[in-house]
Amino acid sequence: MKGERFKEEREPCAFFIRPMAVEDIGVVTAIESENPAPWSGGQLAGELDQEGGWQFVAESRAFGQVCGFVCGRSCVGDGELLKIAVGREHRRQGAAAQLVAHTLHYLAAQGVARCFLELRAANLPALALYERFGFRRLGVRKKYYASPPDDAILLEKNVALVS
Ligand SMILES: CC(C)(COP(=O)(O)OP(=O)(O)OC[C@H]1O[C@@H](n2cnc3c(N)ncnc32)[C@H](O)[C@@H]1OP(=O)(O)O)[C@@H](O)C(=O)NCCC(=O)NCCS
Repeated sequence: MKGERFKEEREPCAFFIRPMAVEDIGVVTAIESENPAPWSGGQLAGELDQEGGWQFVAESRAFGQVCGFVCGRSCVGDGELLKIAVGREHRRQGAAAQLVAHTLHYLAAQGVARCFLELRAANLPALALYERFGFRRLGVRKKYYASPPDDAILLEKNVALVS
């Protein structure tokens, strides 16, 4: 919210966030492969060349290891968060929160007004993550996902309110 600072900026951070490099694609692909309907290494590498694309990794300060990533694309003032994932053994340590906070500040600095995303309705950890950052529900796409079947929830965040 405007005037507030994210928790990740006030407390010492276990991870630092940096742009994803082509050298990261191997570990990012391994992290992604732990999740349903994972993108291939080729798809992830392709994001690095996307016009309006943005990709960041969370690297452990203690181990110098990439533990999570986020990627998306922006076009004419709108951003879309396409993927975010943290390696199973690194979850619940604040990596995703740092990735989202960094992404929102990056988009605000780029002049992006709104950030959109969609997720499986059953993905309660991700839903809690996004709601913590003030994403609000735009709607539901019934039976949007297969294997396993699920609805898609569409979320939006007004990036202009990020300070
Ligand atoms: C969703 C995901 C990215 C969260 O990563 P993470 O690094 O564990 O998340 P963080 O530790 O930064 O948690 C940030 C907030 O997210 C929410 N959250 C994360 N995991 C949660 C869980 N298992 N249950 C409930 N809330 C959770 C909480 O609000 C948490 O804040 P808190 O720690 O103050 O309670 C991770 O679980 C993941 O990679 N899941 C598989 C991929 C995926 O589902 N991606 C999203 C697709 S839209």
